[in-house]
Amino acid sequence: MFDDLRRKFETDGYAVIEGFFSNEEVEEMKNEALNLIKQMPNAAERTEFDASNSDGEQNKSKYFIDSSDKISYFFESGAFDPNGELLVAPELSLNKIGHALHELNSVFRKYTFCERIKEAAFQLGFEDPVVPQSMYIFKNPGKSSEVMAHQDATYIHTEPTSCVGFWIPLDDTTIENGCLWFSRGSHKSGVHRRYIRNPDKTSEDLLVFTSPAPYYQKSNFTAVPVKKGSCILIHGQVVHFSEPNKSKTPRNAYTFHIVEQKNTKYSEDNWAQPKEGKSFMSLYRN
Ligand code: FE2
Repeated sequence: MFDDLRRKFETDGYAVIEGFFSNEEVEEMKNEALNLIKQMPNAAERTEFDASNSDGEQNKSKYFIDSSDKISYFFESGAFDPNGELLVAPELSLNKIGHALHELNSVFRKYTFCERIKEAAFQLGFEDPVVPQSMYIFKNPGKSSEVMAHQDATYIHTEPTSCVGFWIPLDDTTIENGCLWFSRGSHKSGVHRRYIRNPDKTSEDLLVFTSPAPYYQKSNFTAVPVKKGSCILIHGQVVHFSEPNKSKTPRNAYTFHIVEQKNTKYSEDNWAQPKEGKSFMSLYRN
């Protein structure tokens, strides 16, 4: 399963491991997402991230920052009517659930800290990795599900760069339903910009990019469609994107990131910070 993993990862900036999770394990994760939807907070609590309210952007940023140690629900824009009622069923209007599924949910915790994941991290050379965040992504059909080209290290920054994403599709991914596309080798080009807690505390914007989005030429990217239950390892600096889901059904995925702790500094202006007196969960010791 792990043959040549590190060489491929270091050459391309990503590596695919097929058949990483069984169909039964994939179904267990999908069912758990449906259980999480059933436990979703009521409409009154959801209005705080409705962008149509006057200070919606700031509330959205705060909700995002506060989600790092919670199970929080993020909807596509336009999912609510002016009264905060969902316009379509939650499983069709959710963008993602995050960012502490790996800690607080027994199913996602079991798979995040399973031996196969630890072995993959070990194969990549991690000595003392921790898990700063996890997400369940719905990728529902529609334009708003597009993810623009980016590097994960923009959001999860360490010195030196150590972030690696584990991306586990729970449906077969195709060009039509929005598989990942990678710019091979782009992980060797440094961190292009960062997304940080705003040092200007008087500003309305709690989170800001350090520079505008670079232009990435689309012809540099390779589509990487994979079967459900695969695992794609994503280097923090490799540029990747996904197109809108043009199929008729969601393209579910579970994803989380690890960073090295040994001889590495986790940036204090990253959006996700361990809560007071706590640390991110160790991958090897859980
Ligand atoms: Fe990403």
